[in-house]
Amino acid sequence: MLLEGKVAIITGAGRGIGREEALLMAKHGAKVVVNDLGAHFDGSGAPTGSPAQEVVAEIKKMGGDAIANGESVTDHKGAKRILECALDTFGKANILVNNAGILRDRMIFNMDEESWDAVVAVHLKGAYNMSHHLCAYWREEHKKGNQLNGRVINTASDAGLLGNVGQSNYGACKAAVAAMAIIIDAEMRRYGVTANAIAPLARTRLTVEATPSTAGLMGGDVKEGEFDVWGPQNVAPLVTWLASDDAADVHGEVFRVGGGTVFLLQGWHTVGKVRQQATWDPEKLGPALKTELAKGITAKESMAAVMGEGL
Ligand SMILES: NC(=O)c1ccc[n+]([C@@H]2O[C@H](COP(=O)([O-])OP(=O)(O)OC[C@H]3O[C@@H](n4cnc5c(N)ncnc54)[C@H](O)[C@@H]3O)[C@@H](O)[C@H]2O)c1
Repeated sequence: MLLEGKVAIITGAGRGIGREEALLMAKHGAKVVVNDLGAHFDGSGAPTGSPAQEVVAEIKKMGGDAIANGESVTDHKGAKRILECALDTFGKANILVNNAGILRDRMIFNMDEESWDAVVAVHLKGAYNMSHHLCAYWREEHKKGNQLNGRVINTASDAGLLGNVGQSNYGACKAAVAAMAIIIDAEMRRYGVTANAIAPLARTRLTVEATPSTAGLMGGDVKEGEFDVWGPQNVAPLVTWLASDDAADVHGEVFRVGGGTVFLLQGWHTVGKVRQQATWDPEKLGPALKTELAKGITAKESMAAVMGEGL
C-alpha cells in the first residue's frame, strides 16, 4: 500500500488512463477526487453519462473511498472548487494528476482558432489552473508546519516531446506541461512538493477513435491470457509510485510509459556548438552550423520509431 492516508485529485479520471490511475491509487489506500466533465473526445457536446460517478462506484465497491466532481479544469474558479471538494470531503489534498485531455487535430493551415483555443484551455490552462491552486494551498500549509508531501504529475505526450503531424495545438501544450512540471518542481521543492511528467502510450478513445494513425496499432482484440500491452492500466503503476513518499527524491523528470516499459527521457540539452570570439557573419555562421549538424548529433527520436519498436 503506497498511498495510505493520501488524498489524490485526478482530472479526467472518468475514462481511459485517468480512470486506471484512480482505481490503482484507491487500491493503494488513497482517497480520490475523480474529476471528469464527461464530454466528447473533442471537448464538445453536453456531458454524456457520468463516467466520474461510475469510477467512484467501482472504487467504493472494492472498499475504497472516492468522490465524483464534474467541474471543467478550464475554469479557473471551477478548478479551485475541485481542490475545495477534496478539502471539504477528505480534509486535505496530497496528490494532483493533471490528466484531463481532448483532441482537435488539424494541419496548421486548417487549424481554426476555436480548435487551438479549446485544446490549449484543457491541456495547458487546465494544468496551470489546477497546479496554481494546489501549490498555493501546499505553500500555505507548509508555512503552518503541515508537511503534505505534495505531488504534481503532468500528463505530457510524445506528440509534444517528439512532434506529430496534425497536432500543433496538442503537441505544443504537451511539451509545455512537461516544461511546466520541471519548473513547478524547481519552485516547490522547498515546500516538500515534487513535480514530474509522463508521456503515456495506451489504448483509449483518444488513440483509437480520435487518432487513425494509432488506432490500427493499439486497437483490436486482446487475446485471452496474453499481456494487454496497450492497456491503459499499464500507465497507472508509474503514476501511483511517483505520487508516493517513496518517490520523494524523483523530481523534475519526464518518463514515457506503456505496456511493461518505462522510458527515462531527457529533453533539450546541448550536443554541440560552434564558437568564435566575435560576432558571427551570417554567411560564415551557416557553413559552420552545417558542418556541425552534418555530424548527426541532433538526430531525434521519432514517434514512428518509438511506435514501430513496440513496447
Ligand atoms: N492514450 C494515449 O496513448 C495518450 C498518449 C499521450 C498522452 N495522453 C494523454 O493522457 C490523458 C488521458 O487521455 P486518455 O487517452 O485516457 O483519453 P480519454 O478521452 O479516455 O480520457 C480523457 C478524459 O478527460 C476528460 N476531460 C476532457 N476535458 C475535460 C475538462 N475540461 N475537465 C475535466 N475533464 C475533462 C474527458 O471527459 C475524458 O474522460 C490526456 O491528457 C491525453 O492527452 C494519452
